[in-house]
Amino acid sequence: MKIGTIDLSPPFALAPMAGMTDTAFRRLVKRRGGCGLVVTEMVSSEGLVRGIDRTLEYAEFTEEERPVSIQIFGGDPEKMAAAAQIVEGMGADIVDVNMGCPVPKIAKHNAGCSLMREPAHAADVVRAMARAVRIPVTVKMRAGWDADAINAPELARRVEDAGAAAVAVHGRTAAQSYSGVSDWDLIAHVAAQVGIPVFGSGDCIEASQIVERMNGGPVSGVLVGRGALRNPWIFEQATDLAAGRQPRTITHEERARFLLEYIDLLVSERVNEAHGFRHLAPTIESAGAAPAPARGRERWVINKLRALNAWYTKGIDNGSHLRVSINSAESIPQVRALIEDFFLTRSPAH
Ligand SMILES: Cc1cc2nc3c(=O)[nH]c(=O)nc-3n(C[C@H](O)[C@H](O)[C@H](O)COP(=O)(O)O)c2cc1C
Repeated sequence: MKIGTIDLSPPFALAPMAGMTDTAFRRLVKRRGGCGLVVTEMVSSEGLVRGIDRTLEYAEFTEEERPVSIQIFGGDPEKMAAAAQIVEGMGADIVDVNMGCPVPKIAKHNAGCSLMREPAHAADVVRAMARAVRIPVTVKMRAGWDADAINAPELARRVEDAGAAAVAVHGRTAAQSYSGVSDWDLIAHVAAQVGIPVFGSGDCIEASQIVERMNGGPVSGVLVGRGALRNPWIFEQATDLAAGRQPRTITHEERARFLLEYIDLLVSERVNEAHGFRHLAPTIESAGAAPAPARGRERWVINKLRALNAWYTKGIDNGSHLRVSINSAESIPQVRALIEDFFLTRSPAH
């Protein structure tokens, strides 16, 4: 599948997830294969335009992640257009607009899923962006604001007219947040309404579900969020299944290595200096003030591990043991030892 001139092969993408799909995680997913596109965490258009360090860090990426889509949020067409230009200048392959975030902090600023309540304005945002950049502009939306306002098909048509190169639909309303199930019939309906590619999103936890969604409907691609946090090999497995091959079983050693490599990348992270960024972790801790002490950086890494493990341990027998023990760990060596002990020295029964 193609978005503009960008080839996505295979058409399975890592969904944007705030706090989770940082550059380290995205790289590790890419290295495991089968993932045709990665999307960053959502990035504030306001922060980009103002050049706020922390915002720029959320948008940073490495060459090995390509093709990369940077997702931005905001409600002001001019600022979104300016932010899209910044994203283009950073070398992103695609700029995506967040029209799905239900969190009040975002939605009250006329951004995220609030844009779905004003389809004409949402289209203005996309139009301004599409005029401002050469890279494809895409939109990620929900089914609608609530059950009485399911308007993804209408909004998809409007943003297509305004210049969007593709849309992704998470088939829940903002009011549902993550309850209920994603409505893939609605997603299929959207795909039937527009000429641009449509990604479906929601509830693909097993590799087989990705393949079923691709084969069973008119979507051009599938976005995988929580399923990839549980199982970063899900794309590789889906690719195998789609090709008629039996997917590989992931070993305990591989599962351990993923987490250990994640720690290594977070600890030693140097952001893309070609873009003029500085060292990642200290600025995240200190938010632009004096560099954070090593202790603060260690805490940041441990917190990232805790956040990932809330999902990663769900697909593993006795995973709660690892989750609980890491939640009370105080140092990186301790976290490493817990991971090694859990996966490598216990019986394979867990
Ligand atoms: C922790 C978390 C953070 C998310 N952050 C974003 C975000 O920044 N932007 C966005 O468009 N969607 C975000 N989403 C929604 C996902 O991209 C996806 O559409 C949703 O989780 C449904 O897909 P899934 O069932 O495969 O997880 C987030 C979801 C989760 C679980």
